[in-house]
Amino acid sequence: MPMMASQMERSAGNYSAGPSRLPDPVRSMVAEDVLDLDGSGIGCLEHSHRGEVFDQVLSQTESLTRSVFNVPSEYSVLFLQGGATQQFGLIPMNFAGTGASSHTNTGVWTTKAIRAAEQFGPTTIVFDGAEDQFRSLPNPTNLEISEEASFLHTCANNTVMGTQWTNLPSSPKDVPHICDMSSEIGSRVLNWDTLDMLYAGCQKNLGVAGTVLVVIKNNLLARSQAPTPFNYQEHAAAGSRLNTPPTFGIVVLRRMLEWIQEHGGVQSMALRAQQRAQLLYEAIESTQGFWQPHASTESRSVMNITWHGPTPEAESQFLSRADALGLSGLKGHRSVGGLRASVYNAADESACEKLAELIQSSPRFSK
Ligand SMILES: Cc1ncc(COP(=O)(O)O)c(C=O)c1O
Repeated sequence: MPMMASQMERSAGNYSAGPSRLPDPVRSMVAEDVLDLDGSGIGCLEHSHRGEVFDQVLSQTESLTRSVFNVPSEYSVLFLQGGATQQFGLIPMNFAGTGASSHTNTGVWTTKAIRAAEQFGPTTIVFDGAEDQFRSLPNPTNLEISEEASFLHTCANNTVMGTQWTNLPSSPKDVPHICDMSSEIGSRVLNWDTLDMLYAGCQKNLGVAGTVLVVIKNNLLARSQAPTPFNYQEHAAAGSRLNTPPTFGIVVLRRMLEWIQEHGGVQSMALRAQQRAQLLYEAIESTQGFWQPHASTESRSVMNITWHGPTPEAESQFLSRADALGLSGLKGHRSVGGLRASVYNAADESACEKLAELIQSSPRFSK
């Protein structure tokens, strides 16, 4: 069925927190991949994960991951199933030791990661933002992380609260730093000196839900202690094919990585994210207190912009007006309320301008 103009418009203004908007060229390439993967005459949903055509897809996706994120050679790249949440359990299952695992509790997702880690050993919370409703992140240099910790776990961008570390914490020398990058991967230039493992659910900046990108330093990989099929080392030894990998998600990931590369790489994505976020935060601030950002100024995310209105009625009026303009997905997460615009790498610039105008005009229509 041909796409109608109104549907195109609606996709441009999709602010969903994830799964979220894909770039138009990626959508078209994936549509082609579903019908015919790389000229093989067989669609990607129908190919064996052990056949030659998929071998190529897998190795291209790994090479792209390495070049887009500048991954050092002593790290392995894994494509796994189970979403980011599964990693909350796999990480302590593999790496919990005698020393407590250290955690920065910066929102809903880290709270879940802590609950999962508690099942496998002692935990220490080196920062807890709960009392402040997770509006702020600490200065990373002020964190006291024990040299005996089994690992440090952080979340780079807190999707629900709309906070983001400008500089990620680093851990003591022998303590691996493991970071959940689900909602910002591909929009920050990575400093591998302070990262031993990152993982990201792909449904925001990298494509499809259920697919997880893991990049892990080999000396940490060697410490994997979980049984099959939860053991990272076994997944790495099997080239991410211990069982059937999320083939469709990997096909989409390849297209997303190509798109990032063609559009100036992570550096350019980071710059564009800054500009979009600035536009929206300035619009919120220009209403002189009618709209209030949720996150404190120095902790604001460039991926998820969260704000509140003076009353629930003003917020629902805003959502109705947004809907009429083809702007969707703007309701805040149930735990925070208010409003949220998720502006990942594929966010449409003109739809962001439309949203900024709506934010600025809201005080007038609410009077
Ligand atoms: C930062 C972060 N971590 C983890 C998750 C959970 O991801 P999944 O639903 O893939 O398990 C999300 C989901 O939105 C997220 O934003």
